Amino acid sequence: MRVLVIHGPNLNLLGNREPDVYGSQTLADIDELISTTANDLGIGVRSEQHNGEGDIIDALHAARGNYDAVVINPAAYTHYSHAIADAIAAIAIPVVEVHLSNLASREDFRRRSVTARACRGTIVGFGAASYSLALRALAETLEK
Ligand code: DQA
Repeated sequence: MRVLVIHGPNLNLLGNREPDVYGSQTLADIDELISTTANDLGIGVRSEQHNGEGDIIDALHAARGNYDAVVINPAAYTHYSHAIADAIAAIAIPVVEVHLSNLASREDFRRRSVTARACRGTIVGFGAASYSLALRALAETLEK
């Protein structure tokens, strides 16, 4: 199984960005956890980070035919990007939405995900472990 991980806008600043909310781990630390978990599960993985909505849509389109599944943290786009939701629906491969923070316990505007409707499932609130749990969920529910 090959999985593409897409990190959305501002996640490149993890480690410095609001550490009280997002913790002290950098994106490189999270990518290392993703790699180690994927290795343990016998999954091939690639991680990309994009700040632009169009870049995320292009990455989703490019996943078609090249990956068996996608794990995505759409970051703030989660709350308003119907274009990303439509791209997830269009590619017809399983997509798991993840978030570091527990959106249900945050500001009102973060409590709604417009992208989750197109996803196979969501894992929210476990910090970096949201990504490794998403890989485990895919390994348990899809053929390797
Ligand atoms: C986030 C939550 C979003 O509301 C926020 O805009 C982010 C990160 C998370 O992983 O907790 O950038 O997606």
